[in-house]
Amino acid sequence: MRQSPWSSLKTGDHLIAQRALYGGTLALLHDLEKRWGIAVTYVDGHDPDEVRTALRPETKVLYLETIANPTGHVSDLPALSAVVGDDVLVVVDNTFASPLLCRPIEQGADVVVHSTTKYLGGHSDVTGGLAVFADPARYRTTWHHSIELGVTPDPFAAWLTIRGLRTLALRVRRHEQNAEILARRLAAQPAVHAVHAVHWPGLDTHPSHTVAGRFLSGYGSTFSFDLADTEAGRKFVTGLDLVSLVPSLGGPETLVLHPASTSHRQLTEEELNANGITGGTIRLSVGIEDADDLWQDISQALDR
Ligand SMILES: Cc1ncc(COP(=O)(O)O)c(C=O)c1O
Repeated sequence: MRQSPWSSLKTGDHLIAQRALYGGTLALLHDLEKRWGIAVTYVDGHDPDEVRTALRPETKVLYLETIANPTGHVSDLPALSAVVGDDVLVVVDNTFASPLLCRPIEQGADVVVHSTTKYLGGHSDVTGGLAVFADPARYRTTWHHSIELGVTPDPFAAWLTIRGLRTLALRVRRHEQNAEILARRLAAQPAVHAVHAVHWPGLDTHPSHTVAGRFLSGYGSTFSFDLADTEAGRKFVTGLDLVSLVPSLGGPETLVLHPASTSHRQLTEEELNANGITGGTIRLSVGIEDADDLWQDISQALDR
């Protein structure tokens, strides 16, 4: 069968991806490897030389997440996109940052994807996604392809998303103010496992703090932290009253989940370790409620 002129990858091609990614994306990359014969090389994403070494003649795509789910890892998008050159399509999932904190095309990306289910819709009442293209010709061909595949939202979902967008700027700032308060208080807690165990890139202990400061205008509001083990994590998530145990993020209400058994459940033990996720890792999507109310709930659950 002839290769679709709209697809960026075909059997035999090679893709470079950062190691720290949303579990669903990693599952998709595994599928590309196993079923479609597309080779994938994983990189840390801080060092341009690592990407330069990974490049092959058949490399077609570099895939990054601006602020990674759930560890807050930030790859050096401007440096990496400069290294791969014009023949490699740089695709960036900007879901965690939203366009308020990063405009990836201005940093060298060719395609930006968002889950609009999260901050863009912003109210936990719609599911959807979108892709933004630096090149209008690529946009037009992909648009035809997406119609063929049926990847179009129904009108009400589109309307809800557009309505949500009107308050994006207010919400993102408030989410982040709350996230900073909670991240700093969590970092001072003895129950939180180790010094580097609050994975919010705004903390100067976070390995991506310096890189993030170079091109993000904020550090986001969904982040993770590590408790001692799975049992401690279970006690914490079931001990919360105000914060709900729900596998989504970016809505007005604060949500918690256990990545190893939900968002990253497809990963093997080894892959979880490589991603920096333990059984005790907890992810918080910090909402826009009163920060002290949230802290009261979190600290009573930690006490358990
Ligand atoms: C970074 C990132 N991208 C994409 C998705 C997929 O989102 P959706 O639930 O809209 O399919 C998620 C879901 O958590 C995510 O965290």
